[in-house]
Amino acid sequence: MVPAVADLYLFFAYIWAVSEIRLLFLGDIVGKPGRELVRRGLPSLIEHYSVDLVIANAENAAAGRGITREIGDQLLNWGVDVMTSGNHIWSQREAVDYIGAEARLLRPANFPAGVPGNGSYLARTAQGRPVGVINVMGRVFMQELDNPFHRVLEEIELLRSRTRIIFVDFHAEATSEKIAMGWHLDGKATAIIGTHTHVQTADERIIVPEVLRRYKGQETVERRYSAIKGPLAVAPLFLKNNRRIAALITVICLALLIFCLVERQVRHAIAPDTHLDGLGSGHRRARPTGRLILTALASLRLIPAGHGRPATIPQPDRLQTRLLDLLDVDPTRPP
Ligand SMILES: [Fe+2]
Repeated sequence: MVPAVADLYLFFAYIWAVSEIRLLFLGDIVGKPGRELVRRGLPSLIEHYSVDLVIANAENAAAGRGITREIGDQLLNWGVDVMTSGNHIWSQREAVDYIGAEARLLRPANFPAGVPGNGSYLARTAQGRPVGVINVMGRVFMQELDNPFHRVLEEIELLRSRTRIIFVDFHAEATSEKIAMGWHLDGKATAIIGTHTHVQTADERIIVPEVLRRYKGQETVERRYSAIKGPLAVAPLFLKNNRRIAALITVICLALLIFCLVERQVRHAIAPDTHLDGLGSGHRRARPTGRLILTALASLRLIPAGHGRPATIPQPDRLQTRLLDLLDVDPTRPP
């Protein structure tokens, strides 16, 4: 079985893309009433919405200003996975020691060098999926810190190789600065949340260029993955039970693996050239794809080994010989 058009990398990208992740952000938790709400409400919110990771701004959790070790530990026990903060992070003196011992408590990354704690954290969901959390603070009507727009990019760069999911808590006063950060991180962060003002504006938005990029990417994945969706769409008609469906998926995945390895090896072998003579329709030059390669090789026959003779591939044409050479297959001694 050879899928029509597929690619293993995109196959896994597709599975990854469609397996959603649910992040819950709480901000800001203010004093005892806020903590009580977390204690009473968070477990049921996590259960009801199947939340994978909880991030909370906790800089006001201790009597409205700062955080203590006891309170931070309580929030973590109640289901918070990562705590962000802001200008009140140092309002309780013990936070200086606590933040050094608790990596899940962040302070804005754009504090000057040498300040205790970190501005980012690589969290993991219960399923082990990595999520990068970054905390930065605005400067409009606030303290004079390092440039958050530069600093946040540095933090993203540090996390990027370890996760595709980047969450940013931008602790700032001015709406304009928060919106600017949203545009600044277009395509670079998964979600940006503004905290500090303690007023829910509920003005969440999806930035248009990002939507367009994702839409286009989705279309590519869908098109390339049509091979697996085709048979599955009709699977209930003839497979009838789950074991057969699972078996079909396994076979398709193995076929996808072979398919993309063939394509990958030929492309690597002809690099830096990207096209191959005679591969396209009408014997034109074409970029090797799994489909074109396997179509070109389709007429080959394999004579199995027997009577003391090795297996052979008789009379491959010029293009087939070239492809077998690129695939490192000796026609006189096929594997
Ligand atoms: Fe604040």
